[in-house]
Amino acid sequence: MRFDIITIFPKIFTSYFSETILHRAMEKKFIDVRIHDLRKYAEKNDAHKSVDGRLYGGGPGMILKIEPIAKALRALKIPNSKFQILNSRIIMLTPSGKRYTQRDAERLSKYKRVVLLCGRYEGFDARVDRLVDEKISIGDYVLAGGEIPAMILLETIARHIPGVVGHKDALKNETFSKDLDYKEYPQYTRPEVFYPSHLPSPLLGKEGKFKTPPLTKGRRGGVKKVWRVPKILLSGNHKKIEEWREKESGIRDQ
Ligand code: ADE
Repeated sequence: MRFDIITIFPKIFTSYFSETILHRAMEKKFIDVRIHDLRKYAEKNDAHKSVDGRLYGGGPGMILKIEPIAKALRALKIPNSKFQILNSRIIMLTPSGKRYTQRDAERLSKYKRVVLLCGRYEGFDARVDRLVDEKISIGDYVLAGGEIPAMILLETIARHIPGVVGHKDALKNETFSKDLDYKEYPQYTRPEVFYPSHLPSPLLGKEGKFKTPPLTKGRRGGVKKVWRVPKILLSGNHKKIEEWREKESGIRDQ
């Protein structure tokens, strides 16, 4: 699957791509990611390579112009799929878009090519809407730009492409996999017993007992200051473990 990211801050993506699971995914050619500097498509005779302008009618701030974006899309040969049935999707990242969920990540992972258009300043010229297939917001808050949302879409979409996540069952039971309120069961790794005596005192109750369950009974019946992995998970009884996990998974925090 190919991703094209159009941004005025291409360097933001460098370290992200070299440090995350996407690095391996790109190396193994499960995904092909191209970053495009929008300034490259600014007016040729503009020494400042400006891609933004002031608002008609007045108002604070600057918005991205339509021409460089149209030129970038043309140069990348990405036709708007409103007019052509093609396996590509042009997405504008904007706080006024439709709220993004795991279902969108699954849906978008079916495309051959996804274009992510990052905004900056106060937004886009309204006519840019006509160049895109959909507008997506990652949440009900305003960021300084679409670069972080683009990373979020890229990573969440890529995780659904076969091979990107190492273990093929890893996506099966994770949070949101069944429905958007579904929460995965608790998971534990070593050590089997954790002695949190070095934890900062605000985490401890008045008598040095832990406020947070589970507390386990000591040999003399007092409360013992250790946090244990549930015994069932050490039993080797897969059927029982499966039942326990089923019971412990459920509705996520509201
Ligand atoms: N750009 C600024 N804020 C955003 C948000 N919440 N989602 C997507 N793009 C954005």
